[in-house]
Amino acid sequence: MKLLEQRIIKDGKVLSNQVLKVDSFLNHQVDPQLMMEIGKEFSKRFADEGITKIVTIESSGIAPAVMTGLYMNVPVVFARKRKSLTLSEGLLTASVHSFTKNVTNEISISQNYLNKEDKVLIIDDFLANGQAALGLIQIVQQSGAQVAGIGIVIEKSFQDGAEMLKKLGYRVESLARISSLENGKVTFKGQKAE
Ligand code: G4P
Ligand code: NA
Ligand code: NA
Repeated sequence: MKLLEQRIIKDGKVLSNQVLKVDSFLNHQVDPQLMMEIGKEFSKRFADEGITKIVTIESSGIAPAVMTGLYMNVPVVFARKRKSLTLSEGLLTASVHSFTKNVTNEISISQNYLNKEDKVLIIDDFLANGQAALGLIQIVQQSGAQVAGIGIVIEKSFQDGAEMLKKLGYRVESLARISSLENGKVTFKGQKAE
């Protein structure tokens, strides 16, 4: 998605060979206009999958997921990372290990919001090693629903997640695919590194 790539070049900050900071439009301040275009693009790409529900994870997955739900006219459910006061019974859970942060989180979704007739589109802001996506897949499977696809805003293609999910048979659509962050520079897949 050209608009997103241009925004990453303009406002993204390369923190290391591994990490891209996009706090000004996605991870802290959020650009609603850009999120709207992202939602429109995901809804176009997954239009033929019969999606009935979108599943994401708090916090940064919520903005692109809600915009996608708006365009697809389906509800959006986000997995929680912390236990909720009012949400304790009937939880579907998975544990997600982050290699980047070296922590393991228990994530959960109430079984009230997923059922076996659902065809689920998983949305997330970043795809690195794919552990968050795997956890969401496990939760969807526990409900008996089907994962129809995975939509990612920014894929770091030099990490293992995308390949792993595709090998498992999932359709992965990433709106920006970064092949390298070396030398402080963002290089997109299919673009020659300078
Ligand atoms: P994985 O799920 O693909 O295995 O990713 P990983 O554990 O490495 O990611 C942990 C957190 O760091 C996730 O956010 C993920 O979105 C984010 N992340 C991973 N790589 C990058 C990067 O290069 N840039 C930025 N900005 N974020 C990255 P989270 O902890 O769940 O936080 P949030 O959703 O509340 O923002
Ligand atoms: Na994030
Ligand atoms: Na995320």
